[in-house]
Amino acid sequence: MSAQPDREALLQEFSAHLDAAQTLDAIHELKIAWVGRKGRLTHQLKELGQMSIEDRRVFGPILNQLKLHMDQALTSKELTFIRLVQQETLEQDTLDITLPGGVQTMGRIHPLMQVMESLVTIFRSLGFVVADGPEIESEFHNFEALNVPADHPARDMQDTFYIERGIHQLTLPNVQDRAATREGTLLRTHTSPVQVRVMEKFTPPLAVIVPGRVYRHEAQDATHSATFHQLEGLLVDKNVSFAELKGTLARFAQLFFAPNVKTRFRPSFFPFTEPSAQIDVSCMICNGAGCRICKNSGWIELMGAGMVNPNVFKAVGYDPGLYSGFAFGMGVERLAMIKYGVDDLRAFYENDIRFLDQF
Ligand code: PHE
Repeated sequence: MSAQPDREALLQEFSAHLDAAQTLDAIHELKIAWVGRKGRLTHQLKELGQMSIEDRRVFGPILNQLKLHMDQALTSKELTFIRLVQQETLEQDTLDITLPGGVQTMGRIHPLMQVMESLVTIFRSLGFVVADGPEIESEFHNFEALNVPADHPARDMQDTFYIERGIHQLTLPNVQDRAATREGTLLRTHTSPVQVRVMEKFTPPLAVIVPGRVYRHEAQDATHSATFHQLEGLLVDKNVSFAELKGTLARFAQLFFAPNVKTRFRPSFFPFTEPSAQIDVSCMICNGAGCRICKNSGWIELMGAGMVNPNVFKAVGYDPGLYSGFAFGMGVERLAMIKYGVDDLRAFYENDIRFLDQF
């Protein structure tokens, strides 16, 4: 026979413990100690099984009532404490809904790409289509086919990033490329090699523009960068004249800068064009009067251009007696600097939001 449970004593002891429990943790511990799987009351309830039927009839309801009472008392005190804790956090964590909200800024297209896009749009309106080529190039496409012989100063290590043999075998996808198997590889120093690639693939008439990134081994300053962007143009057909080159670029300058802008062609030299020209535009800041931007000359250098050299046609298998064409190449950063009056090219690469937000 087990000891008969003393209802009053159990109740008194439990109430004393409950009164003493002043934290949520203490209430949880009390729950485990009394009504948990190995708790005091659970134990008593299990003992019922050992009692006589008469005793069980007496103590069964008493114990079950006690259990109900304890469950309810514990739960209600637990709820009170949960509310108390919530109340405290609410009072401590103040939320000032009158504070101004955080400003959400809109991202935008980088100014260089905005200029690139407008260049492309203008030349497409003039009938050119966009062509593309690799940034890792063969010496053949970047120099030789463009009539830049091996001893030409432009090939100097000072200007060109060469890539060691072995690497280019992996990076140039076209293994049959006669130049890739024969010669060195480099980071293209201009977009002109794409002229060669286009002519190798297509027969005239053709009119393409090539927007893209180029690389030069140069110290960085306000007007130089080891990587920058160019936009190349090439038009080949029968009987293409220098007048067409002039007309195309003059129209371009009007569309890109302003309708009243003037263009000036000065003799220049490029191995891949003959004759060659340096194209200037009248300074749109001072209207030709002379200012800081145009260095008081009234003119701003815009790009290089010329009639495609017959040697370039020969290199790609075109008959120079049958075809003629013109080509031009401009620096996108330079155009952006002129158009927006930016005097340090590095601003385009630093990605300072305060700078970028102005475009
Ligand atoms: N490729 C020349 C350069 O990078 C620009 C150019 C292109 C000149 C086409 C003439 C014709 O300076």
